[in-house]
Amino acid sequence: MSHSVFKVLSRQMSTSLSRHRPVKYLAVIGSGLMGSGIAQVAASAGQTVTLVDQTDDILSKSVGSIKKSLQRVAKKKFADDPKGGENYVSDVLAHVKTSTNAESAVSNADLVVEAIVENLDVKRKLFSSLDKAAPPHTIFASNTSSIPIEDIAVSTQRLDQWGGAHFFNPVPMMKLLEVIRIPQTSDETFNSLLEWGKSLGKVTVQCKDTPGFIVNRLLVPYMAEAVRLVERGDASPRDIDTAMKLGAGYPMGPFELSDYVGLDTTKFILDGWHERFPDNPLFKPIPMLNKLVGEGKLGMKTGEGFYSHKK
Ligand code: CAA
Ligand code: NAD
Repeated sequence: MSHSVFKVLSRQMSTSLSRHRPVKYLAVIGSGLMGSGIAQVAASAGQTVTLVDQTDDILSKSVGSIKKSLQRVAKKKFADDPKGGENYVSDVLAHVKTSTNAESAVSNADLVVEAIVENLDVKRKLFSSLDKAAPPHTIFASNTSSIPIEDIAVSTQRLDQWGGAHFFNPVPMMKLLEVIRIPQTSDETFNSLLEWGKSLGKVTVQCKDTPGFIVNRLLVPYMAEAVRLVERGDASPRDIDTAMKLGAGYPMGPFELSDYVGLDTTKFILDGWHERFPDNPLFKPIPMLNKLVGEGKLGMKTGEGFYSHKK
C-alpha cells in the first residue's frame, strides 16, 4: 500500500472512529432498579433526563430512590460540606423529569435507553411505537440482561441507530457498561454509545450480540448452580454466601446477589435462554426459584426472596 493511500485510509478510519453525537437529552423508559440508576448517573453528568414509567405512583417512588442514592453519594462527596451536598442532590434531581407518556418523552431525545421488564414481546411493542414518535436522529438502546439486541431492534426501522447499553446494579456504584453493536449499527451510533458511557464515568467493554453478553453469560449460570446446590441439600444459602465472599472474594454471595438483582429478572433470563437452548443444562428451570417467584418473593424489591429484608 502506498504511503498516500495509507494516509487517506487512516484519516478516514480516525474520522469514523471519532464521529459521534453527544447526548444532551436522554429518555429512560422503565423507572425500576435499573432505569432509576441510569437516570441518576446521566443527570449527575449534566444530561437532561425524562424518566418514564406506567404510573405517577411508580415514578414518585423512583424519584424517591434516586434522591436516597444521591444522598449516599453526597455524604461521601461533600463529607465536610453538608450544604454543598444538599445543593448537589437538588441540582441533580432538577435534571430529571418524569412522564407516563413514552411517545412524548422521546420527542426530543438524542438517546432512548429502555429498562422495562425482561420480555421480548413487551420490548418490541414499546420500540415499535417509539420508532414513530422519536426524531430521525434518536439512537435506541436496550439495557436487556439476556435478549439479543437485534431481536428487539427489528421492531423498528432504524437498525443503524441501535445498540445495547448494559449497566450493572447498583448503577451509581458499578463501573462497567457493556456496549453491544448489531451488524447494522453505524460507527457513529456505536461511538456515540461508547462516548456516552464515558460521559457517565463508566468503563466500557464491547461484546458481540450474544445472549448475556459477557458478565451475565458467566454470572447467571453461577447463580443458578448455587440454587441447585441448595435444592440438592448440599449446603445452605447462608453458608454458600459466606463461602463465596470469604473463599472467592466476591462482594456478595450468590443468594444475596439474586435478592439484589430480583428473582423475577433472574427467572426471566433463565426461562428465555432455556427456550432458546433447551439442551443446555446450565439454563434448565429451577423449581426453588420458580416457587419463590410464584409466591411473589422477588428479593429486596418485595421485602423477601431467599432472605427476608423486612425492616
Ligand atoms: N447508591 C449510592 N451509593 C451506594 C449504593 C447506591 N445504590 N449502594 C451502595 N452505595 C455506596 C454507599 O456509599 C455505601 O455507603 P453508605 O452505606 O454509607 O451509604 C457504600 O457503597 C457501601 O455500601 P454497603 O455498605 O451497603 O455495601 P458494600 O460495601 O457491600 O457495597 C455494593 C455495596 C457496591 C452493592 C457491593 O456489595 C457489590 O459490588 N455487590 C455486587 C453487585 C453486583 O455484582 N452487581 C451486578 C449484578 S448483575 C447485573 O446487574 C446484571 C444483570 O443484568 C442482572
Ligand atoms: P424492575 O422490575 O425493577 O423495573 C422495571 C420497570 O419497568 C417497572 O417500574 C415497570 O413498571 C416498568 N415498565 C414495565 N413495562 C413498561 C412499559 N411498557 N413502559 C414503561 N415502563 C414499563 O426491573 P429492572 O431490574 O430495573 O430491570 C429492567 C431491565 O434491565 C430488564 O430488561 C432487566 O433484564 C435489565 N437489567 C436488570 C438488572 C438487575 O440487576 N435487576 C441489571 C442489568 C439489566
